Amino acid sequence: MPVDLNNERPLAWDSATLDADTKAMLDNLQPNILRAHVREHMSLLFVRFNDVAEGRAFLRGIATTRMKSARRHLEEVRDFAAGRGRGTPYVGIGISKAGYRDLGHTVEDVRKFGDEVFRDGMKRRIARAGDPPVEEWERPYQREIHAVILIGDAEPGPVARLREEILDELPESARLLGEESGHGMRNRAGDGIEHFGYVDGRSQPLFLKDEVDREPKQHWDPAFPLSNVLVPDPFAPDPSRHHGSYLVFRKLEQNVRAFKEIERDLADSLGLKGADRDRAGAMLVGRFKDGTPLTLKPEGGGGPVVNDFNFDADDGSKCPFSGHVRKTNPRSFGREVIMARRGQTYGDRTDDPSDDSPPEVRPSGEVGLLFMAFNSSLLSQFEFTQEFWADTPDFEVPGTGHDPIIGQGARDLKVTFPKVWGKPEMSPPHAQVPQTVTMKGGEYFFAPSLAYLRNL
Ligand code: HEM
Repeated sequence: MPVDLNNERPLAWDSATLDADTKAMLDNLQPNILRAHVREHMSLLFVRFNDVAEGRAFLRGIATTRMKSARRHLEEVRDFAAGRGRGTPYVGIGISKAGYRDLGHTVEDVRKFGDEVFRDGMKRRIARAGDPPVEEWERPYQREIHAVILIGDAEPGPVARLREEILDELPESARLLGEESGHGMRNRAGDGIEHFGYVDGRSQPLFLKDEVDREPKQHWDPAFPLSNVLVPDPFAPDPSRHHGSYLVFRKLEQNVRAFKEIERDLADSLGLKGADRDRAGAMLVGRFKDGTPLTLKPEGGGGPVVNDFNFDADDGSKCPFSGHVRKTNPRSFGREVIMARRGQTYGDRTDDPSDDSPPEVRPSGEVGLLFMAFNSSLLSQFEFTQEFWADTPDFEVPGTGHDPIIGQGARDLKVTFPKVWGKPEMSPPHAQVPQTVTMKGGEYFFAPSLAYLRNL
């Protein structure tokens, strides 16, 4: 029986009664898709092959000697929690449409990928996502990338070693077109943050029973079917048991100085005073810096970061409809759009991103997010979110404005902000805040099953 990807019940992956097909699925799936892998330190290698046999042998070599399965990863997490040893580094592979062609798959073959966004590649979709022209992207991304190799670990040492080893194995015919390195940042509470200083990565679709069981779920159900991220791998020996996932990668530069000026100016223009000034930034993100959802509270405050909430009791007077987390997950509908975000921040800071230093000491470039997310459909998840939610000023209700964090396109429409949290008193029409996140390049990949990679 093929694995039922639409099963709504979270996967009890280590249950003794797990059926053989599901086991085979987990043994052949890459890690970091169903559950986030530790990747405090990351290296991303973007390569181009140029020789079918050598490209295949290179990927097969990585898959057989360095990659673990999703099941092995889950066992490592379980053992680590029980004090039985540390995990091993994460190595993942994504192949682009052009990469599959270069590995010898025919045009007809590549049509087996159901996702037209993947089949087009990112450069041909810029109009849909509102992206800058390709000539403005960073050089490596302007070129034809065939594959990305992702290396991640809690420590920098193993990542550096694996990077060296993998680069040594790159055949003469192949080229390293570019590389990125990411490393996590944390606030004083130990939560992961992004460069604007806000807790990130908290809200995720969960697929595994042990993860779902740990979450309260009165107002928001964090459990999602595998169909949100998995599809049969069309080129694997047995696509009914061998799965993969579409991976979107985007390098998103953040102008932190400009964003901090915007927070300050918005607080000034709304006349926010004292602790209430933090609400300016929270209205843009939808959460306070410490992760507190703005729809729940007028100010941030202690405790674990809450994710059990929805916007049902919020007409926009608490969290504006434009707030990033509301735009990208309205929560009362659109569950099939939700993707598994697995990005990491890049760039070094001399300041402390989580403190209250003035904008002048903040970086205006060279830092940002290596946005990555796994999808079962790039068309109806990532691209849909970007095009129809973030970039659409009339979503979710007319006059909402763009997503202030990731929205792209002219922000002509004027918007209003709640002056007092939860009260109907709105500001006069206010210009939308300027764009502070710039797309510097990216590509769409497919993270194939290990069965495919080992058989190359
Ligand atoms: C959540 C920041 C890019 C989709 C968040 C959160 C922050 C954040 C601070 C709240 C933490 C959480 O709820 O997990 C950023 C920054 C970005 C960026 C600074 C760019 C530099 C994107 C992109 C997308 C996206 C490109 C998709 C097109 C989401 C989604 C959530 C989220 C779906 C979770 C919403 C929820 O389930 O409540 N982001 N993000 N983000 N972001 Fe982003």
